[in-house]
Amino acid sequence: MPDKILVCVAWPYSNGDMHIGHIAGAYLPSDIFARYHRLRGNDVLMVSGSDTHGTPITVRAEEEGISPRAVVDRYHPRNVDMMRRLGISFDLFTETDTENHWAVTQEIFLRHLDHKVVYLGQMDQLYCVDCQKWLADRYVEGTCPYCGYEGARGDQCDNCGKTYDATALIRPRCKFCGGVHIEIRQAEHFFLDLGVLNEPLLAWINDGHKEHWRPNVLNFTRARLESRELRGRPITRDIQWGVTIPLPGYEDKRIYVWYDAVIGYLSASKEWAQITGQAEAWRDWWYDPQARIYHFIGKDNIEFHTIIWPGMLIGYDRSLNLPYDVPANEYLNVEGRKLSKSRRWMIEMADALERYDPDPWRYALAANAPESQDVNFTWEEFVRRNNEELVATWGNLANRVLGFAYKRFDGRVPEPGPLDAVDRALLDQMAPTFERVTALLDAVKLKQALAEAMTLAHEANRYLNQKEPWQQIKSDPAAAATTIYVALQVIDTLKTLFAPFLPFTCQQLHGYLGHEGDLFGALYTAELAETERRHYALRYDGDGATGRWALSTLPPGQVLREPRALFVKLEPGVVDAEIARMTGAAGQ
Ligand code: MF3
Ligand code: ZN
Repeated sequence: MPDKILVCVAWPYSNGDMHIGHIAGAYLPSDIFARYHRLRGNDVLMVSGSDTHGTPITVRAEEEGISPRAVVDRYHPRNVDMMRRLGISFDLFTETDTENHWAVTQEIFLRHLDHKVVYLGQMDQLYCVDCQKWLADRYVEGTCPYCGYEGARGDQCDNCGKTYDATALIRPRCKFCGGVHIEIRQAEHFFLDLGVLNEPLLAWINDGHKEHWRPNVLNFTRARLESRELRGRPITRDIQWGVTIPLPGYEDKRIYVWYDAVIGYLSASKEWAQITGQAEAWRDWWYDPQARIYHFIGKDNIEFHTIIWPGMLIGYDRSLNLPYDVPANEYLNVEGRKLSKSRRWMIEMADALERYDPDPWRYALAANAPESQDVNFTWEEFVRRNNEELVATWGNLANRVLGFAYKRFDGRVPEPGPLDAVDRALLDQMAPTFERVTALLDAVKLKQALAEAMTLAHEANRYLNQKEPWQQIKSDPAAAATTIYVALQVIDTLKTLFAPFLPFTCQQLHGYLGHEGDLFGALYTAELAETERRHYALRYDGDGATGRWALSTLPPGQVLREPRALFVKLEPGVVDAEIARMTGAAGQ
């Protein structure tokens, strides 16, 4: 029986172009994981979409003097196209401003109310006396009460990642007028009662099935739950953009963006089921206790995925599956600095794909993934990894063996003669490497999995240098045939191991090795129509995919295709040019 794997990926705010930090932190790891499970033959559903609500969108809209919807309409398609080009294989990447998502959110809200998990209460809220406006979330900035960062927002500090009530901000300033004429006033809002969810959440986190969680995620979550400090949290806001409250009398409030965004995992699963014509299929991932739900997120979102969202699920329907794992990632800095658009230090993924192919990006970001600590991306390392690891190690291995076989063995996989100890030693490394990579991918240790595969590529190069088939062919063509046969087996196996990481070049290689068909299947964009609203989405179609997570069984005699280079060498000048570009000095 295939495993049911639900790959849930953080919903990016649709208020800007995504940068390589977003990709390294969530979208690439989730894609690698999803592709691996698809090759295993498991039933994968990978969903996310643009987070279109809340003050991140409205602040941006006001800065530009356009509607919030216009902001979404600009960035959502751009991010969708970027992810298609990078090969991020969402079964569905939708958005939250859809009828389906609104309906699912409102239904959960009403059920929470019914279950007394949501209640109506009073909340202290900041109010700008000069503007006569409530200052929700990003409409107020001040000094973080935890770390002292001065640009902290009303709901969360970008510097230390902590969340708090806006009233906790030190020296709050109004975002509309810049003023400090701010009062605390009482307002009526709906609250999610995390207090009543504390014990059920604690029981879940201590159920003995969390050993596979990353220690920082588990320790943080457990400490929060064991402190028993969870209280009601407001889930509505005084703004005019977002999911409406499905009750009369609350027309000038909206549901808080975080409450609706996490619901996206469920609503997108339902939308996917609808548009694929199997309306109930989402249940396989959400109700089957054997199904596993993974959340790929950045470390600033841990609390929302290990406490708030599971709490919301418990309060909604106790038989729904809770997260199986939340492999949160740390941050990626560039050249030692935090990426920041306002500080002119940025690598937008779409722009970066204009100049470099997707697989070198995927490789560089996966080989240096921020899995257990913040990492530093440098252009020098990008060039080095491309030139030394992709071009010189893996690409060179594949191309010299395939090129040689194509020219000297009549374009076929040669028939091997008897294997000697050296041949066997290399072939015998395949199965253990395969097992190690499999175990690492299962444990979402993607960086180590990639390194294991690369080690085998190094071994194969060493083998070739020892055997020298280009010499063997002169004195002993049968021995050369054996060498090339052995090397091709390893290359074909490595193709599978690398495929989740490097899907574009592995597909090319799959063809050169004489195989037919697609390892994975196709990614495409689609205009989806609901009754009123239309939206643009990224879709993955795995029909007819032939990739299998297994050791090579490349048969002698298989007809090869003429190989081309898989990777392009980069000039060292790239480093300075790209750094200059980041600061804007190159003028672009
Ligand atoms: N939009 C949020 C952010 O960019 C992430 C939302 S993830 C989800 O930080 F939980 F809401 F899905
Ligand atoms: Zn003001």
